Amino acid sequence: MRILGIETSCDETSAAVVEETGDAAKPWAIRSNVIASQVEIHREWGGVVPELASRQHIRDIRGVVERALEEASTTWSGLGALAVTQGPGLVGSLLVGVAFAKAAAAATGLPLVAVHHLAGHIESLVLQNGEMPLPAVVLVVSGGHTSLYRVGAPGSYELISRTRDDAAGEAYDKVAKLLDLGYPGGPVIDRLAKQGNDRAVPLPTTRLTHADRNAPELKGDLDFSFSGLKTAVLRYVREHERERGPLSPGEVADLCASFQRIVVSVLLDRLFDAARRFQAQSVGIAGGVSANSRLRTDLEARGRAREIPTFLPSLRLSTDNAAMIAAAGLRRFHAGVLAPPDLNADAALAL
Ligand code: KG4
Ligand code: ZN
Repeated sequence: MRILGIETSCDETSAAVVEETGDAAKPWAIRSNVIASQVEIHREWGGVVPELASRQHIRDIRGVVERALEEASTTWSGLGALAVTQGPGLVGSLLVGVAFAKAAAAATGLPLVAVHHLAGHIESLVLQNGEMPLPAVVLVVSGGHTSLYRVGAPGSYELISRTRDDAAGEAYDKVAKLLDLGYPGGPVIDRLAKQGNDRAVPLPTTRLTHADRNAPELKGDLDFSFSGLKTAVLRYVREHERERGPLSPGEVADLCASFQRIVVSVLLDRLFDAARRFQAQSVGIAGGVSANSRLRTDLEARGRAREIPTFLPSLRLSTDNAAMIAAAGLRRFHAGVLAPPDLNADAALAL
C-alpha cells in the first residue's frame, strides 16, 4: 500500500509518497519526499511571517503534490490513502494542507487520515531506522516544541515532560537574532560553535523541580526551560558591549559554543534520566534541532556508554517533511482512525 502525505504546518510545503514494505522490522520505504522551503522569504523578516507562509503554501501545494507523485512513479489511482498534518502549527498554513487533502480525498474517493505533527517527528525515527526496541523514550525538539514522550507500543505516545517556556529551537533562533546571525539560527550557531571554546562563557543551566501548574499530571523534574539561558546570553552580550565593545568573531564563536554545550547537555540529561526512570530499551531524538551536529555525536557517545541503542533521523527527515507525516498516517490508517469529511485544522492539537 502507498500513502501520500501532506505537511504545511509551518514554513515548508511538503508532499511525499511512502510505501509499506511488508518487513515488520523496517515497515516503510520512502518513494518521494518533496520539500519546498520558504526560508528565503521569511529570512528577510527574521522569522516566519504567518500571513506570508499561508499565501506561499497556496502557491506551492499543487506543484509539490504533483511532483511527489511523479517522483514516486505513481498516480492518484496508485495510492491507498492520504495523510495530512492537522496540527499543531500556524492555523493559516495548516488550513492549506487540510483543505487540499480533503478536496483530494473527495475527488479520488481515497480514505484520509489526520496526523499530529509531533507523531510525524517521532515516526521519522522508524522511517529512517526501522522499529525501535520498546518501550522507547523519544525527545521531540524543534522550533515550537521540546517534549519527551514514552512510546510503549507502536503508534502510542505518552507525554512525559515538556518545556515550560521557549522551545530549544526557539532559543537557538532568538540567540542568533540577538547576535545578528540571521534566520534560522540553529544551523548558523551549530557551524560557529565548532570554532569556539565551549567553556569560555559561564552560562546557567535550569533545573525544575516543582510540578507544572498548567499540567499537574506531569511531575516537573524532567521539564525543560530555556528562557533563562536566553536571558543570560542577552545579559552577557549587553555587559560585554558596555564594558569592552562589540564581540569579536572569535568571541561570538565562543558564546555559540558555550550556549550549545548547555542546550545539548540539558537535553541529553533529561532524555537519559527519563530513559532510566521508564526502563527504556532505546532512546531517540527527532525534530529540527536533532539536525544539530553536537547533539548527534553526544547522543551516540552517551548511548554507547550506557549501552542503550540510540535513534536519529537523517538530516532531511529531521526538519519538517511530509514523509514522516505519511508514516504516522499509516499507523493511524491501520488503527482504523479515519478523518471525518468536515476535518478542520487545529493550531493547538494535543497528542
Ligand atoms: O522541526 P522543524 O523544522 O520545525 C518546527 O516544527 O519547529 O524545526 C525548526 C527548528 C528551528 O528552530 C531551527 O533553528 C532548528 O530547528 N534547527 C537547528 C539546527 N537545524 C535546524 N537547531 C540546532 N542545530 C541545527 N543544526
Ligand atoms: Zn516540526
